[in-house]
Amino acid sequence: YLDGLRGVTPTQPMDFATLEQRAQAALSPSVWSYVAGGAGDEHTQRANVRAFERYGLVPRMMVGAAQRDMSVDLFGTRLASPLFMAPVGVIGLCAQDGHGDLATARAAARTGVPMVASTLTVDPLEDVAAEFGDTPGFFQLYTPTDRALAESLVKRAEAAGYKGIVVTLDTWVTGWRPRDLSTSNFPQLRGHCLANYTSDPRFQEIAASTDPTDLVRSWVGIFGNPLTWDDLPWLRSLTDLPLILKGICHPEDVRRARDGGVDGIYCSNHGGRQANGGLPALAALPGVVEAADGMPVLFDSGVRSGADVIKALALGATAVGVGRPYAYGLAVGGDDGLVHVLRSLLAEADLIMAVDGYPTLADLTPEALVASIPCG
Ligand code: FNR
Repeated sequence: YLDGLRGVTPTQPMDFATLEQRAQAALSPSVWSYVAGGAGDEHTQRANVRAFERYGLVPRMMVGAAQRDMSVDLFGTRLASPLFMAPVGVIGLCAQDGHGDLATARAAARTGVPMVASTLTVDPLEDVAAEFGDTPGFFQLYTPTDRALAESLVKRAEAAGYKGIVVTLDTWVTGWRPRDLSTSNFPQLRGHCLANYTSDPRFQEIAASTDPTDLVRSWVGIFGNPLTWDDLPWLRSLTDLPLILKGICHPEDVRRARDGGVDGIYCSNHGGRQANGGLPALAALPGVVEAADGMPVLFDSGVRSGADVIKALALGATAVGVGRPYAYGLAVGGDDGLVHVLRSLLAEADLIMAVDGYPTLADLTPEALVASIPCG
């Protein structure tokens, strides 16, 4: 992974704080607030980040860590590393040319780091998938109330070659986000990032309906489907691709998902964007992993460094996602800026595995960590 950093120029940010500052300078105030902001006073968002400070990796010496292996099996695909890009709905707007979805997909092709493409994209999901190269991609579904529209989106994702469907459960209603509320800034409600819906044959049918309530109901219901566990058999029946539920933090929910035949659990609190006052997502991870009982667990929320990636893996995550860090990389430097962020995360993680003597992911277990270390 260090090779990936060849050609780095002194102008590229090498730490998260600098990256964040540069992203703020590069984005318009409204896009910046939307991407950087979270729910309430953003306590949970900050706690997501700080939770990693509670753990420390205990170094091991003389274990022969000169060769490391970060590769991982995920739903039958061998990935070079356990890092992935979480779905970021507004990512299209983070690129100078407004096509950040395509740039993110190109970065996935260049790095082998998979992208989970949001339902909310500037470019249709087929165009995004066409840029993936040999890197597998996943499709994240916001389940519309119109079931035929949901089915159509999943079928299109299958046809476009996506390797799994991630259903996000925690966003059927948008969280209380003061930064956006104070400026009435919700890009999707202003018609941005809706290419998947508007290009969908089922949506066009609805739009052509002579009954205006059809359109209103469908529009309002784009995210607003408060699914229950009774809907899981229907979700499962939509696809033979791996089905992953995102937003799961409670062990009992993991068990219900397992019983319903899902293939993976995605432990996340949406980066603290949806509900304030909750636990950091990292605190939920061990319980989720235990209840998953061997089923793959994806994790995101608060990951800012290679060290954080390593800690989440040690707590049992199969793969670890970032949201804002790659959005900022894209904002600062387009495809190259995004690739730089991913390669930096991987290089730092790889160096930690070397220095601390954990040469494979199998070596990273909860016993490698000490919890509750004093921190400043
Ligand atoms: C998101 N996230 C998100 N999740 C999802 O399932 N579908 C989506 O469309 C979006 N959109 C979105 C937009 C923006 C601007 C952000 C920052 C995040 C949540 C995302 O997938 C992930 O859970 C968090 O971003 C992870 O936290 P960090 O890495 O940003 O702290």
